[in-house]
Amino acid sequence: MRIIILSVSDQIYSTNRLLVEAENRGHNVRVVNHTQCSILIGRGKRQIIYQGKNIINDADAIIPRIGSSVFKHGAAIVKEFEMNGVFSIASSLGIARAQNKVRTLQIMNRKNIPIPKTIFSICAETVEEQIEALGGAPVIIKLQEGTQGLGVILADSKKSAKSIMDTFYNMNASILMQEFVKESNGEDLRIIVAGNKIISAMKRIGIEGDFRSNIHRGGTAEIVTLTNKEKKIAVKAAKYLSLGLCGIDLIRSKRGALLIEANSTPGIQGIEAYTKVNVALEIIKYIESNV
Ligand SMILES: Nc1ncnc2c1ncn2[C@@H]1O[C@H](COP(=O)(O)OP(=O)(O)OP(=O)(O)O)[C@@H](O)[C@H]1O
Ligand SMILES: [Mg+2]
Repeated sequence: MRIIILSVSDQIYSTNRLLVEAENRGHNVRVVNHTQCSILIGRGKRQIIYQGKNIINDADAIIPRIGSSVFKHGAAIVKEFEMNGVFSIASSLGIARAQNKVRTLQIMNRKNIPIPKTIFSICAETVEEQIEALGGAPVIIKLQEGTQGLGVILADSKKSAKSIMDTFYNMNASILMQEFVKESNGEDLRIIVAGNKIISAMKRIGIEGDFRSNIHRGGTAEIVTLTNKEKKIAVKAAKYLSLGLCGIDLIRSKRGALLIEANSTPGIQGIEAYTKVNVALEIIKYIESNV
């Protein structure tokens, strides 16, 4: 198979792992920097131009590894490949949906996937009634677009929630507010889904005293055994978002697992290290069974 990995560099751990495993399986693999690709449309043949050549017919499958800062252009490149009949492990639609937490949670809620109680608004004047609608403080305030734990704040009181919200509104930042699920205890589950299968799962554990479990914030992780319900939630969520391959994040609450976000470009380094599963190889096998 001819596989193109859309990534800014082959030196990135996850990109490199995918490259190595795909080559080991005998595939013809190339890393293409999507930020240096141009799309040419209108009058004549569509083209994806990279390093002076049209690469639109050069792949049987693509692996998008698109960072959130360039996701719009990245999703457009993926879309162009898709329309040319190329298999992508993440659809352009799925990439756009997962990029935004509100959009993800709206779809999940519509499909009866359990989520934390969430409210979003752009109105600074109604902050108090928003907090009340959520059930009062403490509340979690999040930026709508991903931040590796940096855009997530716990507000203990209505007063502090209000001042934080005022600040964000003032900065024109898109935010959402959520019930604080205290019993999740600074832990979450990262589940890697491929099609209707779960490749690997870990429990991420935040540093002492932090409600956030992000490894980027100093947390650790361990292998976890998922309940059947959790497995079902993860596989269904991936399907509803139109993501073949993705990372689904759940927190465990008194009323069962709740989905907090989905990632269309899940990191491979942490999960391979903590679970000893060859996630990169499983991704390549998933492509093989679909092309
Ligand atoms: N409603 C909540 N109640 C309790 N803890 C939460 C809640 N939402 C998030 N957390 C904790 O905070 C962490 C970070 O939140 P979240 O995953 O939503 O944002 P993020 O990691 O910054 O986003 P991204 O992964 O897109 O960069 C979660 O992993 C979880 O441990
Ligand atoms: Mg997260």
